[in-house]
Amino acid sequence: MKEKPEQSRRSFIKKLTTTTAAVAAGTSLFASESTVKPFAILKRQLGYTLNDQINIALIGAGGMGTQDTIVALQVPGVKLVAVCDLYDGRLNDAKTRWGADIFTTKVYKEILNRKDIDAVIIATPDHWHQQISVDAMHAGKHVYCEKPMVHAVTEGPAVIKAQKETGKIFQVGSQGVSSLGNEKAHDLLKSGAIGELNYAEGFWARREPLEVWQYPIPEDASTKTVDWETYISNTKKRDFDSKRFFRWRNYTDYGTGMAGDLFVHLFSSLHFITGSVGPNKIYASGGLRFWNDGREVPDVLLGTFDYGKTQAHPAFNLSLRCNFVDGTSGTTYLKLVGSEGSMDITWDKVTLKRNKTIGSDDPFYLDKLKKAGSGFAERKKMLPPEEIVFDAEKGYKGGPYDHMNNFFNAIRNNGKVTEDAIFGYRAAAPALLCNDSYYNNSPMFWDPEKMQTVKK
Ligand SMILES: NC(=O)c1ccc[n+]([C@@H]2O[C@H](COP(=O)([O-])OP(=O)(O)OC[C@H]3O[C@@H](n4cnc5c(N)ncnc54)[C@H](O)[C@@H]3O)[C@@H](O)[C@H]2O)c1
Repeated sequence: MKEKPEQSRRSFIKKLTTTTAAVAAGTSLFASESTVKPFAILKRQLGYTLNDQINIALIGAGGMGTQDTIVALQVPGVKLVAVCDLYDGRLNDAKTRWGADIFTTKVYKEILNRKDIDAVIIATPDHWHQQISVDAMHAGKHVYCEKPMVHAVTEGPAVIKAQKETGKIFQVGSQGVSSLGNEKAHDLLKSGAIGELNYAEGFWARREPLEVWQYPIPEDASTKTVDWETYISNTKKRDFDSKRFFRWRNYTDYGTGMAGDLFVHLFSSLHFITGSVGPNKIYASGGLRFWNDGREVPDVLLGTFDYGKTQAHPAFNLSLRCNFVDGTSGTTYLKLVGSEGSMDITWDKVTLKRNKTIGSDDPFYLDKLKKAGSGFAERKKMLPPEEIVFDAEKGYKGGPYDHMNNFFNAIRNNGKVTEDAIFGYRAAAPALLCNDSYYNNSPMFWDPEKMQTVKK
């Protein structure tokens, strides 16, 4: 039977006090009778035979595509057979890394036409995600597509339609969704650990040129080594510009700015943890403060998002901030705040902080109080711990591995993935609308259930 929030909050507190007693008695934290599962119980099952080989191809062999492929190849029974990229240097790197027998091409349709490929990883710049995803599913391939799922809000429905029509497994690459940290946060929120959710926030602080998208440009970059015409074939025609190719994140024709690059990860995690489908009002502010290198996107961005009450959660507000001129470089966090505490969430750790005043809910204390009569209320009480840190077990392979493993498991078992096209669109849309709000200088309204923008 589903517990009401108040009941589940009490049961969480009961577990917490039981646990405190267990610790005092020398037994392990959150012993087996606890509903708050230790990470050991959340270990992944293999669920398939290792002979069941899946052949993959990589489309877009830059930084993330290479990383995704390295992780994918750690999943037993996965083999890389082909790589597509528009720059010779990346194709040469792929052969050096994965062997000269890998098939390489600059034409992604040559990958899709091959019968020996079961699944593709799409890690091109954002403006190619939709078209290659749709073409790949129609060519019978399962798709792991990097985030954000699409480059513009209008592009989402086509991906959802292709997934429905083809029945292929389609997963977006926000790895946090599959991590132990997100799972634990989901369980804790459900068990009432922070009371009623009312606020969430996320933050990124960066400062170093490489972190803020000033990537090195290879010396041999030219139209001889780069297929520039294909690169811009689905967007505005321009003369070759190596910055627009190698530093694509800074330009709106190809990238989606801070919101599409970073906020989207937090929408994915937040929606997974809370069961939310998304916000209904989006407002952004920011500016270009420092990196005047020709970029078209802000280097400081603030977004506020209103989440309405649903069956899954109460109404709450979300605040996301990103600063590329921040001297505290390296800080990134996601925090959920409730009426009784808060959670700081990473992929392998959750730090739960509880209000000091929850002692009055301690069943031991309440029982003593009842038995002792009113005078007992003057007495100081035993308080449960104010902070509990849940850390992943040593040897945990991490969210990226779990995410790839979930993708291949779904292919092998004809199963489902959490971060499918609908989930991916609901995470991408508020990020893209955040950009629209910034450029239009006005709030944007979104119906997260119907996945439609709303005119007011
Ligand atoms: N999940 C994450 O944590 C994460 C992290 C970084 C990047 N990403 C995403 O991964 C994608 C790639 O980012 P990156 O940092 O690897 O960029 P990158 O520039 O390092 O790599 C992109 C590659 O795509 C190639 N390319 C461009 N258009 C192509 C096309 N039409 N066909 C084939 N290849 C094409 C480029 O030549 C380049 O090698 C982006 O969508 C980004 O948002 C996700």
